[in-house]
Amino acid sequence: MVTYKSDLSNVNWDEMKATLKEDAFDNGRSPQQLKDSFENSYATCIAYIDNCIVGTARLLSDGICNAYLVDVWTFTPHRRQGIASKMISLLLEKLPGQHVCLLTEDAVDFYEKLGFSEGDTCMEKVIGKWLVNHS
Ligand SMILES: CC(C)(COP(=O)(O)OP(=O)(O)OC[C@H]1O[C@@H](n2cnc3c(N)ncnc32)[C@H](O)[C@@H]1OP(=O)(O)O)[C@@H](O)C(=O)NCCC(=O)NCCS
Repeated sequence: MVTYKSDLSNVNWDEMKATLKEDAFDNGRSPQQLKDSFENSYATCIAYIDNCIVGTARLLSDGICNAYLVDVWTFTPHRRQGIASKMISLLLEKLPGQHVCLLTEDAVDFYEKLGFSEGDTCMEKVIGKWLVNHS
């Protein structure tokens, strides 16, 4: 069973680094830099199977109108089981009224299935109605 967590208090950052490296998706951050970048995010989602990290996604946002989706990754042995789609849908729930942008070269089809479209500078989606949120 896959578990999705937004709470970062018990994350094993050494394990995240090692799994990213094993999966050839390590962009060079140290475990401490992974921790800092996740903790400094607007929202995060980490997927676990049997307490092992199998996916990540996080959002940068101003909380009002503009957000950026980064670090979307599913560990290769667990791909095509809906894990990344679920992580993104859990994150997008936190962004009513905002414009979300992301950069990708390889996963355009994946994001189109989630309702993103190719804009001039990024793949993009407005969540709900522009600027309609609790602010
Ligand atoms: C892209 C990625 C995050 C998808 O993760 P995932 O957990 O396998 O995605 P899901 O299972 O939620 O996929 C949902 C649907 O998207 C589509 N999809 C997923 N990966 C795809 C791919 N590589 N190419 C085309 N379509 C894809 C499929 O239609 C899939 O549904 P299906 O399996 O029923 O056909 C994963 O392949 C990955 O980590 N890639 C390397 C990192 C990366 O490219 N991240 C995105 C850069 S921003």
